Amino acid sequence: MTVAALADNLIDPDIFPAEHGPPHHLFDRWRQTDPVHWNPANPAYVGGMPGSSGVKGFWVLTRYQDVFDVSMDQARFTSHDGIVLWDVEGAELERQRANFMVMQPQQHSAVKKVIMPPFMPRAMAELAPEVDKLAAEIVDRIAHKGACEFVFDVASILPVHTFCELMGIPPQYRDQVAGYGNEMADVESRTSVSMDPMIGLFGLAQQMAEEKRRNPDGRLLSAMVNDTTLNLDPMMINQFVLVFAMAGHETTRSTAAHFIHLMSQHPEQYALLKQDFDAHIDNAIDEVLRYTSTTTNFIRHAVADTEIGGQPVKQGDKIYLSYAAANRDPAVFADPHRFDITRANAKRHLAFGAGPHICVGARLAKMQLRALLKQIVTRLPDLHPVGEPQWLRSIWFNAIINMPVAFTPERGRG
Ligand code: HEM
Repeated sequence: MTVAALADNLIDPDIFPAEHGPPHHLFDRWRQTDPVHWNPANPAYVGGMPGSSGVKGFWVLTRYQDVFDVSMDQARFTSHDGIVLWDVEGAELERQRANFMVMQPQQHSAVKKVIMPPFMPRAMAELAPEVDKLAAEIVDRIAHKGACEFVFDVASILPVHTFCELMGIPPQYRDQVAGYGNEMADVESRTSVSMDPMIGLFGLAQQMAEEKRRNPDGRLLSAMVNDTTLNLDPMMINQFVLVFAMAGHETTRSTAAHFIHLMSQHPEQYALLKQDFDAHIDNAIDEVLRYTSTTTNFIRHAVADTEIGGQPVKQGDKIYLSYAAANRDPAVFADPHRFDITRANAKRHLAFGAGPHICVGARLAKMQLRALLKQIVTRLPDLHPVGEPQWLRSIWFNAIINMPVAFTPERGRG
């Protein structure tokens, strides 16, 4: 174990904006010399996360195999003590434990059974025509303009609409739900800690839950609220809405923005995609997910004294699953820093996690990305960023939050 200088500390929300993504030079160095690396607490960092007592030190896993093994092993590594970098204790921890992402395995599987049907292949196939239609409408709206802001004016609309449709969130609440989700993801840009977005979102969740109790509609929120076997309490419903407001939106939007940004940096790859969209798009999406790992990490805690890859860890130690580092591990991905949409094993990436908590929205995210990118690549093929995109200040999300783009207006619409 080596002790990092503060300059090499992952608890620094300015790293992603400064480096345009995760600090791969650190991950590479650690993977080679110190693959289970101790990242000390950064005493100067407050965080901005409501209810958090700060960010203590943690073990950073940089090897693909270690990230995979720990993700699979719920007996030795738990989600129940928190899955994000910010530490929480006491009543706040109890409140967060109402989130199904941190429930104990038995309860987690029971809830997941209720959640999964709309994310299964058949339901996805039924949803596909609507997603395609909406993607076309989104591009219709900008096609004549020749320029726009990409992240919020284009990339964000489809994921918000789709997760709201799946959940049964009525149109009048959608902007608010997405807005609160954004505020929660953007917690580190704030200069002070504010509970307001969370309180606002929870208020809205309760209001919608009440409506679903009165008028069940068979959608996800209604299924959760009216399920008689799960007995979910109000905080569980609140946390459920919170998870989707963040997970179902910001991640997919950011991956679309990364896609456009990467294509502009790799014109030869973009030429390949334009030559044969259908042949390359699925692998290209996986390669963008691998290369950017928009959700860069989640956390587990050691249930008892144990070891990871030969490094002893103590009961209660916090383990940082670096999906970003795993996705650039040369043991799995040859020449890992090369962006290559024809990479044969791109889909082995861990950008969606692995094991019992693997992303439930992975298929949905890919379907939306494919639909939106098809519209852009075929109708506005020279769409490209103008100037440098702006990155989110975060120790968690590798996200572009502002990216002006320009393009030749679509013929007949200019
Ligand atoms: C590019 C897009 C996305 C990325 C990169 C992503 C990433 C992830 C990752 C890494 C996890 C693992 C969490 C863990 O192990 O603790 C996860 C879980 C989850 N994601 Fe996604 N996600 C994406 C899109 C979505 C979408 C579109 C939805 C829903 C509409 C969604 C809903 C969820 C949920 C509900 C979980 C929790 C699963 C569980 O704990 O059992 N995600 N996601």
